[in-house]
Amino acid sequence: MKLWTQAHLATLTGESGWGLLEHGALVSEGEHLLWVGALDQLPHELATQIDTQQDLGGALVTPGLIDAHTHLVYGGLRANEFEQRLQGASYEDIAKAGGGIRSTVTATRAASEAQLYDAAAKRLQALLNEGVTTVEIKSGYGLSLDAELACLRVAQRLGTALNVDVRKTYLGAHAVPPEFAGRADAYVDAVCGWMAALQQQGLVDAVDAFCEGIGFTVAQTRRVFETARGLGLPVKLHAEQLSDLGGTQLACEFGALSCDHLEYLSPAGVQALAGSGSVATLLPGAYYFLRETKLPPIQALREAGVPMAIATDHNPGTSPALSLLLMINMACTLFRLTPEEAVRGATINAARALGLKDRGQLQAGQRADFCVWDAAHPNELAYFLGRNPLLLAVRGGQIRTT
Ligand code: NIG
Ligand code: FE
Repeated sequence: MKLWTQAHLATLTGESGWGLLEHGALVSEGEHLLWVGALDQLPHELATQIDTQQDLGGALVTPGLIDAHTHLVYGGLRANEFEQRLQGASYEDIAKAGGGIRSTVTATRAASEAQLYDAAAKRLQALLNEGVTTVEIKSGYGLSLDAELACLRVAQRLGTALNVDVRKTYLGAHAVPPEFAGRADAYVDAVCGWMAALQQQGLVDAVDAFCEGIGFTVAQTRRVFETARGLGLPVKLHAEQLSDLGGTQLACEFGALSCDHLEYLSPAGVQALAGSGSVATLLPGAYYFLRETKLPPIQALREAGVPMAIATDHNPGTSPALSLLLMINMACTLFRLTPEEAVRGATINAARALGLKDRGQLQAGQRADFCVWDAAHPNELAYFLGRNPLLLAVRGGQIRTT
């Protein structure tokens, strides 16, 4: 049993508030927290069982950060498209001309599994350096059974090698690959057909789709979700990013873990989310990098009591972001979240967006995943641009050394 002392705790317990506690302590055993509180309240029977102790020197301790939406595994980059967009081309124009997601599919298929792994490992390491202890990684740049399998396998190997919990999401319905050009419905059949095979290999924790004018229709998304439901897999959705198709309402009908992006979400979409249990995952990196001007309806989501998560959406086209702390900052400056909402968005609400109940807050029974920061108050996590105050990341009760 390990006692961590002199922690300035921000537990994030309950539905609001930082849960601040100076002179706090944590007791971990194995991968879990047994007790969290003020050191002078430590029960005697626990105190007698402590075999190791670590003084955290009064540093701030928060739950480990969780990046609940990334596309980290892909070949190539799209810096050229960034230049085109700066000269006036729109994201949709580039996609319709065969660029966008499809150009990354070509580069991903051309890469070996080792190349995909090496490139993604560097990107993932950047996230870990800032305290990410759980990360979601989507497929979606392979778009054939073999290539999706390879990308999900890479995601799985990354988790083991880099000491981070990787949740794997199957995003076969990301774009129509060239061999199915003009046959989107046949491609959706294929996406549905591959799902069970990927699941049997233990490579699918959830199923996602890109419901959009340049992606898939609501009817096609419904077929993907029905197949997922038949296999007992939870769903989530890229919804209302560039237009309002009503994908959110569909996703809520299927009990989606989260609806992500939501810039064009309508009042009816907010209504559907309210009380559905689905998390609104906001992606300020994509909003910023696409130079979007339409804001997600934050105040309506807040008033409806919809939990909000914040993620990097790391991908080569719309969000080459590798800093979850920067996303927390941008959620405040661009989306007007409070620092507390933004930090909750990258911890407890991010855990909810992944269907994980065992992390995101510091309390007995939760995983011992936490970050130790050189900060006097947790609002500093939302404050700096480009400073990394992480001192230590602890995952499953062990200090991470990678
Ligand atoms: O989350 N919107 C769809 N998927 C990604 C972008 C993918 C890409 O452009 O490569 C996103 O923004
Ligand atoms: Fe995305």
